[in-house]
Amino acid sequence: LRRVRAQWETTLALLKPDLLADAARVRAVEQEIGQQFRVQERRQIAWTRAQAEAFYAEHQGRPFFGRLVGYMTSGPFVALALAGPQAVSQWRKTMGGTRPVQMRVRNPASLRARFGLTDTRNSFHGSDSAETARRELAFLFGDSKLDRNWEHTSPQAG
Ligand code: PPS
Repeated sequence: LRRVRAQWETTLALLKPDLLADAARVRAVEQEIGQQFRVQERRQIAWTRAQAEAFYAEHQGRPFFGRLVGYMTSGPFVALALAGPQAVSQWRKTMGGTRPVQMRVRNPASLRARFGLTDTRNSFHGSDSAETARRELAFLFGDSKLDRNWEHTSPQAG
C-alpha cells in the first residue's frame, strides 16, 4: 500500500477555449477524464493578458508566444486538478503531443488527435513534471494547494 500511494500525483489539466466553445465535447472529454483520474478541483476561468503571460512566462520570446497568449485569453477555459498514479505522465499520454495533425497519424486515440484543431488551438494543456504541476496548481487554485504533491513525493510519505 505504501509503494502504491507514493506513486500518486496531482497534475494540472486545462481544457482550452476552442474546446469550451462546444459544451457536448466538454462533457464527453470530462467523462473520459473522470474514468481515468480523480478530479480534485474544477474551475472555469477567463484570464487577463497579464495572467496568461505570467502562466506561460517560460515561453516568453518564443515565436508562438503572442499567438498562445492571444488564444488563451480569447474565451473561458476549464482548469482541473487530476490525481492518480503517475498522473503527470498519464495525463500527458492521454492528451497526446502538442501538434494535433501530427497526433492523428502518431497517436490517433489521443485527445489532441480527436479534438485539437491546430498547433495553437490544441484544446489541452498538461503540466510537464511534478515540480511544474505544483507551481501551476498553485497559480490556478491558490496557495492552499501548494503542498499537494509534497504528500506524494516526500521521503516520509505513507
Ligand atoms: S516546448 O518546446 O516543449 O516547451 O514546447 P511545447 O511544450 O510543445 O509548447 C509549449 C506551449 O506552447 C504551445 N505551442 C504553440 N502555440 C502556438 N503555436 C505554436 N506553433 C505552438 N507550439 C507550441 C503549446 O501548446 C504549449 O502550450 P500548453 O498550453 O502547455 O500546451
